[in-house]
Amino acid sequence: MIETKLNIETIRKDFPILSRKVNGYPLVYLDNAATSQTPKQVIDVIVDYYSRYNANIHRGIHSLSQEATDAFENSRSTIQKHLNAKYPHEVIFTSGTTHSINIVANGFSSILKKGDEILVSAMEHHSNIVPWQMLCERTGAILKVIPMNHQGELLLSSFEVLLSSRTKLVVCNHVSNALGTINPIKQIIDLSHQFGAAILIDGAQAAPHLTVDIQELEADFYTLSGHKICGPTGIGVLYGKEAWLNKLPPYQGGGEMISEVTFEKTTYADLPHKFEAGTPNIAGGIALGAAIDYINGFGLHYIAAYEHELLSYATKKLSAIEGLEIYGQASEKTSVISFNIKGIHPYDIGSILDKLGIAVRTGHHCAQPIMDYYNISGTIRASFCFYNTLDEVDRLVEGVLKAKSMLS
Ligand code: ALA
Repeated sequence: MIETKLNIETIRKDFPILSRKVNGYPLVYLDNAATSQTPKQVIDVIVDYYSRYNANIHRGIHSLSQEATDAFENSRSTIQKHLNAKYPHEVIFTSGTTHSINIVANGFSSILKKGDEILVSAMEHHSNIVPWQMLCERTGAILKVIPMNHQGELLLSSFEVLLSSRTKLVVCNHVSNALGTINPIKQIIDLSHQFGAAILIDGAQAAPHLTVDIQELEADFYTLSGHKICGPTGIGVLYGKEAWLNKLPPYQGGGEMISEVTFEKTTYADLPHKFEAGTPNIAGGIALGAAIDYINGFGLHYIAAYEHELLSYATKKLSAIEGLEIYGQASEKTSVISFNIKGIHPYDIGSILDKLGIAVRTGHHCAQPIMDYYNISGTIRASFCFYNTLDEVDRLVEGVLKAKSMLS
């Protein structure tokens, strides 16, 4: 029995999808690092928006437009408070973490020069590698990698050696999507700043599990995706320090992001609109605020404590299976377990688990350099959310044992 302040059975009733069956079995959803499920409180907010006040924002004088604008801007304030950012205009709505990172990478095109260096951690998702490679191609900057060890922890001593006056930017995830490692980002941010480098933290996998205090962290940029934190897809956030956001050029041109347009010259709108060209995902933005309210209703510290218990239980049970290897055994982890069984392809195990109604992700998890480090093609990844239960962990373990006996 896990001691928890959360009433998991009651919480599960908030998520309509959790009561469905898949392939004849009650769904066991363990692919939360790919996308989390959506509670009815958030679904209701989306339905309410389209049913009662669907209108474009920041432009109409009519009542519906005003209501929609107020709800969208309230949501921005909710996110600001949640992250403890200094100003609401430091919160830019994007389509998700990938979009957020690309805004920053594009902006640095006019800042970096040939020979400048960008340091990237060895455990990044492709979305926090490829935009920087593209930036290096445009500018002649050089990408260098902060290495990790077998446990799946970054080598801070190597990071310190890599840092120099040439380092202009450091990019690192708060939590690895493939391994679950919680990186020591405060230390990484402080060290980067000692060398005058800007730092972007990809918080996509941290936001659902950890409390983030942006002012305490002093990150220059922090990103998150709505769909990983019980919100909808197609909405996310780029947090940027006011000074940095003022310095970067806009990413896209269009309506909403301008102050004055003539054929001779255009001036840009103030923050946050400078980075929000076109009609945004209004329903998504409002729903993201609702998702954050929903999570905060339980308290992220209670969520993290419960998920940690699930992780410990699952780690113990899975480790007892002969031939099973877990990748990523960092001392600080969120509720992600990546594993393989000797001699069996992860895809085959994942397919059998699906037949048993158990959803996991298999493959390289958009983190091929991590797979290369371990010399594997991919893993099976079970990622837990606060609505998962011990019984579901048991179903996973039984499913893995069954798959193993069928495939050995
Ligand atoms: N980034 C998502 C994952 O880790 C899609 O699965």
